[in-house]
Amino acid sequence: SIINVILSGGVGSRLWPLSRKSRPKQYIPLFEGQSLFELTVSRNQGVVDRTIMVGSIQNVDLAKPYLPEHKSQTIVEATPRNTAAAIAFAAFACEPDDILIVTPSDHLIENQMQYEAVLKQGIEMAKQDYLVTFGIQPNRPETGYGYIEYEDNYVLSFREKPNLETAKEFLKRGNFLWNSGIFCFKASIYLEELFRFEPKVFRASKEVFEASHHGLLSEELSAKIPSKSIDYAVMERSERIKVIPSQFVWSDMGSYDSLYDYLKGKGHAVDPAGNMVIGTDKYVSFVGVQDTILVHTEDALLVVKKQASQDVKHLYEELEHGA
Ligand code: GDD
Ligand code: MG
Repeated sequence: SIINVILSGGVGSRLWPLSRKSRPKQYIPLFEGQSLFELTVSRNQGVVDRTIMVGSIQNVDLAKPYLPEHKSQTIVEATPRNTAAAIAFAAFACEPDDILIVTPSDHLIENQMQYEAVLKQGIEMAKQDYLVTFGIQPNRPETGYGYIEYEDNYVLSFREKPNLETAKEFLKRGNFLWNSGIFCFKASIYLEELFRFEPKVFRASKEVFEASHHGLLSEELSAKIPSKSIDYAVMERSERIKVIPSQFVWSDMGSYDSLYDYLKGKGHAVDPAGNMVIGTDKYVSFVGVQDTILVHTEDALLVVKKQASQDVKHLYEELEHGA
């Protein structure tokens, strides 16, 4: 069968205070009344037979109402051990020949037809034992993404989170795509490659999965799993990687920058100086400030300059540590 593995870890700290530990950003109905999680589930339903969600207990509780009835399963992590392990849990829960379509739950994708078309291409390649990635044309030297050096479907190299200088060089060279964070492969091929490059992650994840009860993973055993992302653990090293250059509209709703651009595109009010209000109908005026976002929630207010929106993460960390 074809299985959508949805990863949902983390709190989305760069979207504080909209995003909270009790309700991470994937579950806020910001997108024409729907959440990123709901949108993720539904965009894959036309292609997959089943859905497996892997995440923390908070995430799983919030996700459950949106998972397809009778066709889904959840795996609850006691502690997050990063994506190499999270995907391994799902792979252990499947048959070796099952095709996994691994998707994050915090992206916005537009153009469903294009999306389904590339997924179907990906499934065909995965059946031939490749690890398939979906590449997005980059438009800025973003350092938070992986880069895929390519020629048609061939991957010359995979470079996770380069520094700014290197990212600029990649853009100049022109034959690099961003890694969308969506992957497609057979369960068995992923596990083989994980075993080859990160035997410790493989063994420890297997042990945790085998000791699990009703999809609940043990905290004590989980602590032994090295925390590695699939990108560093497998994608940078495997020789079985393919890429499908993809045309769907893709955005990582990671920060207020991208949320601002999305909402603006949907006609959300922006004043002549580029200021935006999120979360209240109260009358707000901005005097002498530009490109500023005011975020209103029940118990917190945030004022952030659009260009500084990545720094909200640091604020979150300070609050978390009681500074
Ligand atoms: N269940 C679970 N457990 N999910 C996790 C865990 C974990 O321990 N850690 C991360 N995730 C989930 C996140 O919630 C997200 O949906 C997805 O896995 C990817 O993790 P991120 O932490 O968001 O990764 P990233 O954004 O730094 O980088 C990845 O995505 C980029 C595109 O957005 C990489 O694949 C990059 O190469 C890629 O460009
Ligand atoms: Mg991300």
